[in-house]
Amino acid sequence: MTRPDSIRITDVGPRDGLQNESVSIPVEAKIALVDRLAQSGVAEIEVSSFVNPQWVPQLADAEAVFAGIERRSDVVYSALVPNLRGWERARRVGVDKIAVFTTASETFARRNTNCTIAESLDRFAPVVEAARADSIPVRGYVSCVVACPYEGPVDAAAVRQVTTSLLELGVDEIDLGDTIGVATVEDIDRLLDAVSSLVEPGELSLHLHDTGGSALACCRRAIERGVRRFDSSCGGLGGCPYAPGASGNLATEDLVELCRGEGIDCGVELDSIREASAAVASVIGRPLRTG
Ligand code: HMG
Ligand code: MG
Repeated sequence: MTRPDSIRITDVGPRDGLQNESVSIPVEAKIALVDRLAQSGVAEIEVSSFVNPQWVPQLADAEAVFAGIERRSDVVYSALVPNLRGWERARRVGVDKIAVFTTASETFARRNTNCTIAESLDRFAPVVEAARADSIPVRGYVSCVVACPYEGPVDAAAVRQVTTSLLELGVDEIDLGDTIGVATVEDIDRLLDAVSSLVEPGELSLHLHDTGGSALACCRRAIERGVRRFDSSCGGLGGCPYAPGASGNLATEDLVELCRGEGIDCGVELDSIREASAAVASVIGRPLRTG
């Protein structure tokens, strides 16, 4: 494969991983997870979500997690924000970066955020404006870029359209999410063909869940096509409470192993990630994938 010198990893485990766990996870365990991930060398950690706590009760303690973690200057600490109320909460705790999230599927927009895609974008406009005024970078997620748990296959043209709208709002980064983890290598080609005239592959982030077991192969393909930023979660934690059947994210351990094998620098120490995964596995009471 065309081998880059380095790639950038965002570990989304504390957010995408824990949001889906039904057992009550003490705030101390969440703080410890974030601190361990920070020590492992990941570039960015998605710490939590400032969403409506009625919708994602597991992450209702986002403020407490941010208050407890040890911030390192070489790590970006980010969080999900769905609306202005979420932005105000995130700003108060001093997030480094926020992520707004919409989707290429109308049904998923409704189920996940109680609004249409257009309404979600309307909600983001003042959030992006406020974040930019505070010099806080904004990631814009597009979910269901390959398939929707309710509607089935999703057209890459719809992904292109939502990507265009997010860029028009002024987001700094586009992150394409295969929410239910069914992407194939051919899907990655189709997606990149659809969006690469809007966003340079090197500037794009890819967020793969691994339900079908092909996330790593997709990652490889994306690297060949010039993508350099990937989301993954320690131990393959992950899923979305509003996407039935979605399993965990691509495991950070697998991504780090891939980099190791190809001689790509990702800055992450595999043993530290494995320790982080083992610690969280003991809290959630089930084994995780540790590469
Ligand atoms: P809503 O209930 O329609 O909101 O939720 P609302 O504006 O009608 O407000 C209702 C009440 O909630 C109000 O309180 C608000 O203040 C409160 P009341 O006045 O009745 O006392 N409220 C909030 N409280 C705290 N923080 C907030 C907030 N917002 C409203 N931010 C909303 C609409 C979008 C907020 C809701 O649907 C929601 O929170 N959804 C989030 C669902 C979610 O987090 N899903 C998982 C993340 S997405 C994902 O996993 C995919 C991804 O990983 C990528 C991929 O895999 O593809 C990112
Ligand atoms: Mg996800």
